[in-house]
Amino acid sequence: MSEDPGVLRRHLDRERRARQAAETIAEEKTREAFQANESLKRLNEDLERQVAERTAELRAARDEAVAAQKELQRSNAELENFAYSVSHDLREPLRMVHSYLELIRHRANADLPPQVADYLDRAIHTTERMQGMVRGLLEYARVTTHGSPPAPVSADACVKAAVENLELGLEEARVSITRDPLPAVCADSEQLARLFQNLISNAVKYRHPGRRPAIHVAARKRDDGMASFRVSDNGRGLAAEDKERAFQLFQRPGDNTAIDGTGIGLAVCKRMVERHGGSIDVESTPGEGATFCFTLPLAEGDAAEGGSAAG
Ligand SMILES: Nc1ncnc2c1ncn2[C@@H]1O[C@H](COP(=O)(O)OP(=O)(O)OP(=O)(O)O)[C@@H](O)[C@H]1O
Ligand SMILES: [Mg+2]
Repeated sequence: MSEDPGVLRRHLDRERRARQAAETIAEEKTREAFQANESLKRLNEDLERQVAERTAELRAARDEAVAAQKELQRSNAELENFAYSVSHDLREPLRMVHSYLELIRHRANADLPPQVADYLDRAIHTTERMQGMVRGLLEYARVTTHGSPPAPVSADACVKAAVENLELGLEEARVSITRDPLPAVCADSEQLARLFQNLISNAVKYRHPGRRPAIHVAARKRDDGMASFRVSDNGRGLAAEDKERAFQLFQRPGDNTAIDGTGIGLAVCKRMVERHGGSIDVESTPGEGATFCFTLPLAEGDAAEGGSAAG
């Protein structure tokens, strides 16, 4: 059977057109793919450039922060050394002034007109106060310049040492002190004893006039490797607006005219705690009492056990 040439031609034409159409589509797809690939490449290059720029910016910011921190550490150390030598060097002339004033009082007291004797008493009292401030400043500066390196220490033993140092005053005021078992921490033991001593002596000093002072020391092991301590009293407490000031050097918020003090104790506590990488704060209901809360790193063994040492 012979094929009709017209039909064959039409068939071949259709095939050619279909092939051409397929080739055009394929070309278009290839072009599109190429373009997509090109824009992806550009996008990648853009992204890489942006990442490189950002990394350089971050690196520069980090270098700046490290340099600023170093400078801060240097100037802090300089300031501490300055405070240390000034307070150290002031002690001797102050002691001399005090001794001479005492000598005058001793020699001439009976002959002095009452008003002059009163001036003399005030001058002596002021030098004593100044001696207390200089001693406090020296202690404050010594926290970082003369501290021992932190080592595992029993917080229980440090509370005991603090209580022994305060024994007479505690007996006199009939203070009741209780404590839960406390964990071992990584700290300068002398400073930790001093910290408890400052907090306990404050709890007695700022007691409520109508109550027998009661102090409780508790601690809890935290999951982040820190121990959180609480020293609670049933004293007069602190107003909310006084809490921050209480930790500042030479600040004595509230009515303290009848109570001796220089306003250094809590500033020293804060400095000691921060030197160990912890923080200190106070919770209080005025008239009911205050709880001083601070954190310190747990000693390795105690940190590994986890859980709670005491309530
Ligand atoms: N347990 C407390 N209850 C109530 N107020 C307190 C307590 N502890 C401290 N304060 C307040 O915080 C202030 C600062 O205390 P801080 O121990 O620094 O100084 P200070 O006791 O006045 O003098 P010192 O330098 O002799 O310790 C106190 O003057 C008092 O107003
Ligand atoms: Mg005090």
